[in-house]
Amino acid sequence: MSKAIPCVRVRYSYLPQQFQDSEEILNAIRAHLVNCQFTLGPEVEQFERSFAALIGARYAVGVGSGTDALALSLKALGIGHGDEVITAANTFIATVGAIHSTGARPVLVDVRPDFTIDPALIERALTPRTKAIIPVHLTGEMADMDPLLELAGRRGLPVVEDACQAIGARYKDRAAGTLGAFGAFSLHPLKNLNVWGDAGVIVTNEARFDRQLRLLRNHGLSGRDEVEILGVNSRLDSIQAIVGNRLMAQAESITEQRIANAARYDRAFAALEGDITLPPRRPEVRRVFHLYQIYARRRDDLYRFLLEEGIEAKIHYPIPLPLQRGLQPLGYHPGDFPETERQSASCITLPVDQHLSQDELDLVVDTVTRFYREG
Ligand SMILES: Cc1ncc(COP(=O)(O)O)c(C=O)c1O
Repeated sequence: MSKAIPCVRVRYSYLPQQFQDSEEILNAIRAHLVNCQFTLGPEVEQFERSFAALIGARYAVGVGSGTDALALSLKALGIGHGDEVITAANTFIATVGAIHSTGARPVLVDVRPDFTIDPALIERALTPRTKAIIPVHLTGEMADMDPLLELAGRRGLPVVEDACQAIGARYKDRAAGTLGAFGAFSLHPLKNLNVWGDAGVIVTNEARFDRQLRLLRNHGLSGRDEVEILGVNSRLDSIQAIVGNRLMAQAESITEQRIANAARYDRAFAALEGDITLPPRRPEVRRVFHLYQIYARRRDDLYRFLLEEGIEAKIHYPIPLPLQRGLQPLGYHPGDFPETERQSASCITLPVDQHLSQDELDLVVDTVTRFYREG
């Protein structure tokens, strides 16, 4: 007999709620049909200006995705075949894929319990071929940037921040994306600032990088007919820029609500010490909870229980990235990244988005509590 499918009581994806009333966005898209500037144009420029202001960076360049934001940043630094780029072992595949797409070799370094690259382990991964470091602000947490920037500065290595999960995050009151030479952001539908498809942004404070990125994302064209360098087609889509322009004003309230929801969970789960362990909550970081991820005893059983109870928990990421089949050419083995492997085995992600009701948050807490209290 087939098992009954549980009805969803707390959903993970909030997109139908977020976009149920989108008349304003649709009207803006209709108005766009008057000028028909479907590539680049005023909507993209407006988005770039607003995004730079939101982050507090001098320049923002809209591109096709967060993955492209990383790859083009590396290309702007002249990184390619024969080079190595260091990044975190626990990240979404896109970080490693972006490095690989430039022809450079991704070199992985283990993370700390707060999910970010361990600066103390970077030194031993350096070789004469190392050309850049990409810290990943995973889950909306921020990497420990001071020691990382100190090391990078000492070795003359540029830093590209993977801030794809971290719009609005801050480290010692400095915004994610503004501490390195480049900050790469994703506007993917499930990110905190989300559009209706793929899109990304790069921020930088240097005029020469801004110019280089604008060339790289548009075939290297400096005008209609002149190719200045070899580039690609990775322009921010105008329709996505229109969506982004309408959402920008909500970015801060979305972030605040996620932080408030996470604080509520943190307070409740403190009572489950021993069963639930919260990641370190460093006071110098404003984490923005793209994901609310915690350590759970008997994680797999809890995960199954939550799904059976209609709570759409997730696992980020069930297979440690360095051990994925597609990464075998990099030659990593079980045991190489103990903290990354521990996180794969023991972390669970709970819904934390801005559209959750207080009842839904309570239901998540009650269900997790019931799992441990009732065995
Ligand atoms: C850490 C990280 N880096 C890079 C990316 C790539 O972003 P995109 O999906 O927009 O290409 C993502 C997206 O999920 C991500 O989470």
